[in-house]
Amino acid sequence: MLDRLETTLRVRGGVRLEGSVATHGAKNAALPIMAAAILAKGKVTLHRVPRITDVSVMWSLLEALGARIRYEGNNTVTIDGSNVATYRAPYALVRKLAASFDIVGPLLGRFGRAEVPLPGGCIIGTRATDMHEQAFVALGCDVRNAHGYLIAESKRKHLQGAPIEFRMPSVGATKNAMLASVLARGTTTIKNVAMEPEVIDLGNFLNAMGAKIDGLGGEKLTIEGVPQLHGVEYEIIPDRIVTGSLLLCGAVTRGDVTVTGCRPDHLEAFMMKLQECGVDLTFGEDWIRVDGSAITGGTEILTAPYPGFPTDMQPQMVSFLTTVPGTSVVEESIFNGRFSYVNELARMGADVRVSIEGNTAVVKGTAQLSGAPVEAPDIRAGAALVIAGLAAAGETELIGLEYVDRGYERLEELLSALGGQVQRSSGITPIVEPAGIFETREYPRVSSAAG
Ligand code: EPZ
Repeated sequence: MLDRLETTLRVRGGVRLEGSVATHGAKNAALPIMAAAILAKGKVTLHRVPRITDVSVMWSLLEALGARIRYEGNNTVTIDGSNVATYRAPYALVRKLAASFDIVGPLLGRFGRAEVPLPGGCIIGTRATDMHEQAFVALGCDVRNAHGYLIAESKRKHLQGAPIEFRMPSVGATKNAMLASVLARGTTTIKNVAMEPEVIDLGNFLNAMGAKIDGLGGEKLTIEGVPQLHGVEYEIIPDRIVTGSLLLCGAVTRGDVTVTGCRPDHLEAFMMKLQECGVDLTFGEDWIRVDGSAITGGTEILTAPYPGFPTDMQPQMVSFLTTVPGTSVVEESIFNGRFSYVNELARMGADVRVSIEGNTAVVKGTAQLSGAPVEAPDIRAGAALVIAGLAAAGETELIGLEYVDRGYERLEELLSALGGQVQRSSGITPIVEPAGIFETREYPRVSSAAG
């Protein structure tokens, strides 16, 4: 009998969402910015840190390296990396979070050496590191893989600025190249960089600590190495993927939802596709309102590096498209395994056919999805299944809520604030202890019915 703690979310479908809800800080900006904090001589104060379990894993990793971290309340975290004294990251933590690989750059910048477990793969596809390694070699490191670890070591006392050109934009490799070069000797140029808002936020944070990075938002960065970085107080950008997911919750229930505290300019490609489906969108400087009452039909989606349609919105958009009349085509160009959730949607009556190559889905709008027990395979697919559950007739029970909790801060509370009938059925509610890291208060363990 498997004694697995079932963390499930129960979603009552057919309830029209209405009202206003605030989005939270960006997971994919908070994670590299927390890692970058150990480059500073002094304390860093971060605002709008989302209270999600991916952040708690990064938190644990930094503490394992020697950093002192405190939760100050109201999504504010302070990090003091002065006592970080090791360049070897523990496998037990890195294995939980691919983004832990963001720590390589800061360790190289700090010590000229890093030993970090390779991120391996995850359900959405391979997480290769060849471009990360290309950048480290260019900056004067010997790089090798040994026993599942990437071992990078500078040949000189300091990393040496150099020209780098990536074969394609990579969020992770761009971040690590920036992180490793800000304290290098001399000038580094990086061409064909990722331009995601979270990468730019990391660059702005580094500059706030005294780094000299030019060209943020463009295809080429020029980085003048500086001798040291200082502590700073910084506010993380809003999470555009959480924002987009909440907007789709409004649209899929044909509701009228406003998301506040967000950046409409970070969601242009996504909003344009929603409008092609007849969704009425209005927006101001830091809010977006969606009215799903007059939806007309489907659309065609190709995921692409920013400013294209974000791959992290692909599953959620497919869920929405299963409920609109007509046929839509969605092509996934970033990851090679990001349609695995389609099998779960099919159990709710959705008609989604994925090509043999696995990178294109044809979605036929279904009159009515039906609620069912489903299982989340990853963060964004979990959000997609919640979106489908909101539209389905009857109740959907989502197993694998721990995946959603990795990227969404108390999603059930956000949706309940909009009138949704969504509740956590048992198990785990991520909380932040004042003095400690994100912890999960476990309720009595339950054994799975299946055994
Ligand atoms: C970041 O992952 C995000 N994660 C992902 O969000 C996001 O989907 C992705 O960027 C694309 O936007 C974080 O920021 C923590 P990549 P990352 O390096 O850095 C290949 C979420 O749900 N590649 O741009 O891993 C790679 O295999 C997550 O929040 C190489 O081939 O993305 C992948 O197919 C999911 N060699 C593609 O590029 C390399 O050296 C995109 O990877 C690096 C990457």
